[in-house]
Order: sequence, then structure tokens, then C-alpha cells
Amino acid sequence: MKSGSVVEFRFSETNVAVMVSERPMRVAIVGLGTVGSGVVKILVEQAERIRRRAGREIEITSVIVRDPTKARSVSHVDDLIDTSLEAIKADDVDVVCELIGGTTTAGDVVRQALLAGKHVVTANKALICEQGEELFQLAREKNKVICFEAAVAGGIPIIEAVTQSLAANQITSIEGILNGTSNYILTEMFDRNVSYDDAVVKAQKKGYAEADPAMDVDGTDAAQKLTILVQLAFGTKADLKSFPRQGIDSLDLADLRYADQLGFRIKLLAVAKLHGQSLELHTQPTLIRKQQPMADVYDAYNMIEIEGDAVGRTWFSGMGAGQMPTASAVVSDLIDLAVGRAQQTFPLLDLWSEREPLPILPAEQIERRYYLRFHAMDKPGTMAAITAILGRHQVSIASCIQYEAEGKSNSSFVPLVIMTHHCQEGQMRAADLELAECKAIGKNYLRLPIRE
Ligand SMILES: NC(=O)c1ccc[n+]([C@@H]2O[C@H](COP(=O)([O-])OP(=O)(O)OC[C@H]3O[C@@H](n4cnc5c(N)ncnc54)[C@H](OP(=O)(O)O)[C@@H]3O)[C@@H](O)[C@H]2O)c1
Repeated sequence: MKSGSVVEFRFSETNVAVMVSERPMRVAIVGLGTVGSGVVKILVEQAERIRRRAGREIEITSVIVRDPTKARSVSHVDDLIDTSLEAIKADDVDVVCELIGGTTTAGDVVRQALLAGKHVVTANKALICEQGEELFQLAREKNKVICFEAAVAGGIPIIEAVTQSLAANQITSIEGILNGTSNYILTEMFDRNVSYDDAVVKAQKKGYAEADPAMDVDGTDAAQKLTILVQLAFGTKADLKSFPRQGIDSLDLADLRYADQLGFRIKLLAVAKLHGQSLELHTQPTLIRKQQPMADVYDAYNMIEIEGDAVGRTWFSGMGAGQMPTASAVVSDLIDLAVGRAQQTFPLLDLWSEREPLPILPAEQIERRYYLRFHAMDKPGTMAAITAILGRHQVSIASCIQYEAEGKSNSSFVPLVIMTHHCQEGQMRAADLELAECKAIGKNYLRLPIRE
């Protein structure tokens, strides 16, 4: 608290004295799209609740957008709308809330805000992942804070869990469904029989998908979130190119059905596991046994399983995307800044650890079971050709099912699913090269890991 500032105590509904600072915390909001509108809604409609919990008012000074003529879903801030990013540097602004997305302008906004002496709140995982190191360093130099709870898993307070609530532990594994859009699309396809393309459009209409949904469905978004958690939990900066990444765009509805018949659900799973002194990392659609909690996560929900050496296994679940869940996390960050909590915890985060980063386990050494789906020629010798290739690379088969061809009954190709025993990714990659040359199978061969 600044010396000379005036503090008063008021009584809350429960007769507990709460400290109320006279001066409001003033916020410039950059971006009034899905998330920005939700933040404004909470700040305006729940002003009294927030004042009580923050100990002072949180006041919006300006709302910066690209197109001032656009119709908005919130009307409370019409008078505050601006198009000039200069507004973030105004003397009376304490905090800049970056909610525009992308990394170029967003990066400039955060840099300019820090240089002008403002704290920053952002929901932008792409920015944190790409420029986090530089921005966090700048924040540190300027004695300012960057809060980013909304950048991972939307409304689930997972950043706080990893950095504060589980701080007594060495985290040993993080496994999570971190992309609400992909999970929503998979749910629409499997449970509601919606085509992949229609499910993507529905996700966009609901405000779950990024403006360019490619990053959601190709696994990039989940991988970016995983790298943020990895840096906080293991003090290690992982390059997106340093671990296997695959999205749901490679899946057919038939794969979801075959997996179901075998007792599994397919989810886009992001994994970070500590093996001695190295880290196993991957983000891939993965078969998960139906009995596991993670298999039961539907729509835009996320779930993260974290294992710590003291606490054991913990699960966190909630809406991973969408207007109000994401706004919930952004406003909580604002309250943390207003109270002064974030200013105390930010300098202690494991973002600038001086210890050696952990090496990433080479992908070839990752050991798992696999689901292999072929479109195989319906003729004698096909099975022998496939098993010979797998055998040459010591990939052992646990089970094999041939399905009837869907739709075109006269097709000469039939779906064939093989479940392997444990083997290394390197063995599978070597087998993949030979399978790609095998004339007995069609081109769109799919290989997915199985979670035990
Ligand atoms: N949507 C979600 O469920 C979700 C969940 C978690 C995190 N996030 C993150 O939250 C951030 C915002 O996402 P969103 O879904 O709210 O995006 P959005 O709906 O596309 O809104 C973006 C807003 O930023 C404004 N904007 C864009 N470029 C600008 C510029 N150069 N100058 C000024 N304003 C600019 C736009 O102005 P106009 O309105 O005038 O075009 C719009 O109001 C992203 O980083 C995203 O990754 C989103």
C-alpha cells in the first residue's frame, strides 16, 4: 500500500470488516470481442461484488477496438470506446487488459503498457508462448506484473493451482484436455452425429473457436497451453517443435466409433511427464479408457490431471472456452491486482528459474501402446503384409478387428484396426515409413497413442 493512501474499513453482508482503498483501480480494456465483452459485463453488472472482494472499485477508463461502428453486445461502455492504442498510456490507467488475440499488435500492446508503467492482464496463450520470455523479463525490469490465468483452460484456475495451491509439490505429471473447441467438435460429431465441418461452424458461433480455428483443430492451441504449464511446473521452456503434436483434423467419425466399440473415447490430450531428469511431452488425439475421468469430459469442458509428489493425483475441470468462463478468469486476475496478491506472487513464479532446464525426452523414446487404423485391401495376403512390417520393427499386436466397409459395399478397401502392445515411438515411425510404401493399404492410415 502506498504511504499516505487513505484506507477505510466497511462491513460486508456477513459483518466481516473489509479493507476498502479509496482510489479505484483503473483499467484500459483492449478488445471488446467475445472475452472483452464478458469482462465488461462482469465489471459493470457485478461492480458491488467486485468492490467488496477487491477492497476498492475497479473502474474502466477506456475500451479500445478496431471498428468503433460495430454493434456491441454490451452497451454500458459506449462512451469509453476508442480506437487509439495511445489510450493505454494515459496517466490514470493502472492496468491494461489485452484481449485482442494474435501476437503482433497484442505483443506491442503489452510491451507499451509495461514501458508506460502499467500492469497487464491477458488471455492470450499464443502471445505468452511466443513472446513470454521477453515480456516477463520486461515486466520484471519495470517492477510490473503480467497476469494470465485465462490463457490456459479458460475458467479453470489452473495457473493458480500449479503456481500456488500445489507449490509444496514437485509436479510429476500434467495430462489435460486443454482445447475446448476440439472437445466440443468431438462431442458434436460422436454424440450428436454432426459433421466435422458443421461442428467447427457451431464452435465458432458459440465463441469457443479462435478466429482462425486451424490452431484449435491442428493441436497448436493445446500445445501452446501445455508449454505454459510446463514452464511453470518444471521451469523448462519447451519449443513447440520439440515434441509430437497432432490435431483432431486427422480423425474420421468412424475412428470415434471404433474406439468406442473397443472401450475407449478419443480426446485431444496434452501430456507432460517427468521421467527421472527428462520430460516426456506430446499433444495428440489419444484413446482413453471409458472408466477414466478424462474420458467423460464433453462439450467445451477441459480437464487437467496433475500429479504431485506429496498430493498424489488431482483433477481440475470446467469450461475451457467461452465468453463468461474466460471473463471469470480475467476478472479474478484484476481482483488479484487490486488486492495486491499478484504483485507478491508474480516475482516468485518459476518463469525465470536459474536452474538448468530439463531435457525433453526424444520423441523416438516415448513408450506407449498404439491404435492403428488402415483402409486395407480386402484380399488374401493383406494382413500378412501389415503384420510382417510391424514384426520387422518389433511392434507386437494385442488385437485386430476388420470392419465392414462403410457406405460403398463394393469398395475393395475395408477398415482394419490394430491395437499394439507397448512399443517406442521410434519403432512405430520406422514401421510407418514401410507402411506408407505398402500397396495393400490405402493412403489415409491413422496412428494414435493409447493412454493406460
Ligand atoms: N473466446 C474464447 O473462448 C477464449 C478463451 C480463452 C482465451 N481466449 C483468448 O482471448 C483473446 C481474445 O479472444 P476473443 O475470442 O475475445 O477474440 P475476438 O472475439 O476476435 O475479439 C477481439 C477483439 O479485439 C479487437 N481488436 C483486434 N485487433 C485490434 C487492434 N489492432 N486494435 C484494437 N482492437 C483490436 C477487436 O475489435 P473489433 O471488435 O472492432 O473488431 C475485437 O473487439 C485471445 O487471445 C484468445 O486466445 C479466448
